Amino acid sequence: MKEQHLKLARVLISKEELRAIVERLATEIRRDYQGRTPLLVGVLKGSFIFLADLVRCLNMPLEIEFVRLASYGAGTTSSGRVRVIQGISGDIRHRDILLVEDIVDTGLTISHLMQTLHRKGAASIRLCALLDKPSQRKVDIKVDYLGSLIPDEFVVGYGLDYAEQYRYLPAIYALGKED
Ligand code: PRP
Repeated sequence: MKEQHLKLARVLISKEELRAIVERLATEIRRDYQGRTPLLVGVLKGSFIFLADLVRCLNMPLEIEFVRLASYGAGTTSSGRVRVIQGISGDIRHRDILLVEDIVDTGLTISHLMQTLHRKGAASIRLCALLDKPSQRKVDIKVDYLGSLIPDEFVVGYGLDYAEQYRYLPAIYALGKED
């Protein structure tokens, strides 16, 4: 695929479907963390819209931190190298961590982060991912709270970008070739 000739192909997950997904995930998470105050860790930048919608839907005691990792650069395939732009700050020992990701693709980003959080002494680590593209997986990752499986297509919108474009779109779109 020539990356300079990409356009929005079609809606993969609509605004209404995203809302229903977030509500379902929030119900599952609220049930499982009853009586606890999890620390939600959003993986920037892609997760910012999903996390914001999720916490408003959760409406339960929780704390929020962010990390910023990047593996894609400006292309549509993972570079295979995870760059830590901003790591976790503060003491996470004995905390119940819920990682919030927009998408798990090769799994390298989240696997890297999970190893770091284990080393820092988290009591538990679970993963909530809006999208899962299992066809590209390179490491075994268990998604505890999954929004939707998606096919092997490059997707944008609802926080996800292509070369920093399209994050603002309210739905998830697949990118296709220009005619
Ligand atoms: C994307 C996405 C995930 C990661 C998933 O981030 O937000 O964090 O890639 O891919 P992987 O499973 O193959 O590691 P990206 O590197 O594009 O940075 P961004 O979130 O700032 O756009």
